[in-house]
Amino acid sequence: MTPDKTKMANDPSKTALNLQNVIAGYGDTQVLNDISFSVAEGERLAVIGRNGVGKSTLLNTLMGLTDLHSGSIEMFGEEIQNLPSHKRAINGLGLVPQTRDIFPSLSVEENLMSGERQGHKIEEAYALFPRLKERRKNGGSQLSGGEQQMLSIARTLMGGPKLLMLDEPLEGLAPVICDMLMDVFEQLASDGKHTIVLVEQHAELALEFSDRMLILDTGAIVFHGDTSEVRQNPSILERHVGLGVT
Ligand SMILES: Nc1ncnc2c1ncn2[C@@H]1O[C@H](COP(=O)(O)OP(=O)(O)O)[C@@H](O)[C@H]1O
Ligand SMILES: [Mg+2]
Repeated sequence: MTPDKTKMANDPSKTALNLQNVIAGYGDTQVLNDISFSVAEGERLAVIGRNGVGKSTLLNTLMGLTDLHSGSIEMFGEEIQNLPSHKRAINGLGLVPQTRDIFPSLSVEENLMSGERQGHKIEEAYALFPRLKERRKNGGSQLSGGEQQMLSIARTLMGGPKLLMLDEPLEGLAPVICDMLMDVFEQLASDGKHTIVLVEQHAELALEFSDRMLILDTGAIVFHGDTSEVRQNPSILERHVGLGVT
């Protein structure tokens, strides 16, 4: 049976994600302070903000890894805030965590198979990351930082996410690896099957990649709009992130 392409294609008139009045944190500690926004299907949203403002907490809250105090989270029209993380993953949510959680004692191939869901083919992961194919018998702990990040991304993709969240995927990596990863994100964003939320400290890359931008400051949204608006008015970045874009 050939897959129904119309069912797989993104429809920008539809909402991939909708948060309403989300308050969340760790135990009694509140980090996210009344967050509401939505993301259209196929959108590329960049989330930026200074260290410690709650970017990772936002992604982790979407994945169900923090304590949600109140508010609702809808993904592809379904409320997910009461679902455990693995059910959210089954519904199409994928997170590449800032911590690059791979299994150091497993081989590359075993790591990939541990993320497999819905018959996703390892060959697709290897096509995106030929380096992982070369290293498929190597242990996770033998990989360079860049290769570990490739593995972390590829393993998340093995779950077949429709909404892919990437938490500072370029952090600490050499420029050549960053370029290669940005090419992969570009491919994923333009294949019509993915909506992407990218948390990124490199403001220039975020500006280049995204079509919408969300800026956080101490757990609250201080800007949400088209990236073109930020490009035309870089003082938005300066004001909220303390970054000058050259
Ligand atoms: N596991 C945790 N337990 C308690 N507090 C945490 C935990 N993780 C992060 N925090 C706190 O939440 C706030 C936001 O952190 P984080 O979401 O990691 O920020 P960012 O990703 O923007 O750098 C910080 O004050 C941080 O200390
Ligand atoms: Mg973070």
